[in-house]
Amino acid sequence: MSFLSILHILFSLSLLRYVSSFDITRNDNLVLYWGQNSYGATHSNTADYQQRLSFYCGSDSVTDTFPLAFLTTFFGEGGVPSMDFSNICSTDNDPVFSGTELPNCSFMASDIETCQAAGKIVTISLGGATGAVGFTSDSQAQSFADQIWNIFLGGSSSTRPFGNAVLDGIDLDVEGGGSAHYAAFVTQLQTHFKGASKKYYVTAAPQCPFPDANLGSVINAVPFDAVYVQFYNNYCGLQAFSNPNDWNFGTWDNWAKTTSPNKNVKVYIGAPADSTAAGSGYVDAGTLANVIQQTKSQFSSFGGVMMWDASQAYANGRFDVAAKNALTGGSSAPSPTSSKSSSSSSSSSKTSSAPSSTPTSGGCAGVAAWQTGVAYVGGDSVSFNGHLWTAKWWTENDTPGGQAGVWTDDGACTSAAVATKSVKAIKTPVADVSTRASSEAQDAKSTPNADDVVTPISDTRKAASETSTFRPRWGRD
Ligand SMILES: *[C@@H]1O[C@H](CO)[C@@H](O)[C@H](O)[C@H]1NC(C)=O
Repeated sequence: MSFLSILHILFSLSLLRYVSSFDITRNDNLVLYWGQNSYGATHSNTADYQQRLSFYCGSDSVTDTFPLAFLTTFFGEGGVPSMDFSNICSTDNDPVFSGTELPNCSFMASDIETCQAAGKIVTISLGGATGAVGFTSDSQAQSFADQIWNIFLGGSSSTRPFGNAVLDGIDLDVEGGGSAHYAAFVTQLQTHFKGASKKYYVTAAPQCPFPDANLGSVINAVPFDAVYVQFYNNYCGLQAFSNPNDWNFGTWDNWAKTTSPNKNVKVYIGAPADSTAAGSGYVDAGTLANVIQQTKSQFSSFGGVMMWDASQAYANGRFDVAAKNALTGGSSAPSPTSSKSSSSSSSSSKTSSAPSSTPTSGGCAGVAAWQTGVAYVGGDSVSFNGHLWTAKWWTENDTPGGQAGVWTDDGACTSAAVATKSVKAIKTPVADVSTRASSEAQDAKSTPNADDVVTPISDTRKAASETSTFRPRWGRD
């Protein structure tokens, strides 16, 4: 091979590299969940309903990653997974592969390839709030990994729902069913990735209470490329940014650097794209820009913003563009105030007391996560949604905190940390407390006397949000 042809190849590679621009190491990436038409769930204006994926990959697109939401069922009819993309492709409106509940969405292949050609990555997201997910053994999880590899990624199968399009990886949005055998699932996928000709990504979308009830032990056990932390539907959501007792990005940053097997894992701020996209946690574009700028400058693990979901972002004045501008520094967002800066430094100091060195968590260390399909007898303890629960009598498939009332709530797993937080709250500067009290006035039943009842209010909201308001956000139409 001549020197000139080598030069030519190098030059071509550099051009290709310029087009295939996705770069996981950046701190300004935007992840936009696509698939569930969240806007359509609460609006009748069909013009703003979710469009085909390619619609979001045109020249005005600012998205870097699209997780397709969701692969909802692991083992459906014929032992094959099922998935749902609402108004675009589903078992209701599209043909299924025979003997399965897997819709044939082959028309989406060109959409996926359009997005990939524009330098974006497209992954399949497993789970969602109502997902029928989980494994009974490592070997079952490993076979499922082979199946995912064959039908969505670099393997081959006669039933590939997106035809020849090859997705760029998987995302775990496991919001129920516990964490058992997921590490084996991811490890098996990664053995396929090792011999592959392109890079595949594995991400997870834990909820912000640390550690996550379902994904916590999984992300501690195997390397992930990024975690899209859901800072909504919980006490630690974006609405709590100015409250260092609740806002816990620092805990996640500390997890990334000290506990995660991949010390370069990126942590994203997951945000609702509009007020109707989540039960709580939506903040306006200016507030989000401020959060982004402060987090980006303070935490090296910060990877960008995840947003739920595409339909909401586009209907809400291109909320995705507002976030991307803030990420790349292109906007004129309000400059950080001194009180915000002090909150942030308190937040990072909290990191040191975070239970990041224990694989499960404080009060729940060594306690198995609650699972469907498992029978429990009176006195059995489980962890669920960051709390420890004890069964009053024999029970199966009764969710802790649910209607049946068979579980006693023994409090948050991190109750030691909660006690520490109460002490810290008393030391919170008065200015900061009043800011929080006014920002939470809409939520509070009555306006508290900020000086003496701040901590109880905060804890009550936490308990309520963890047991009831976290689910509707992955709602499906
Ligand atoms: C999936 O749908 C495409 C387009 O309609 C069709 O060509 C293909 O044969 C289908 N695949 C199977 C296995 O049914």
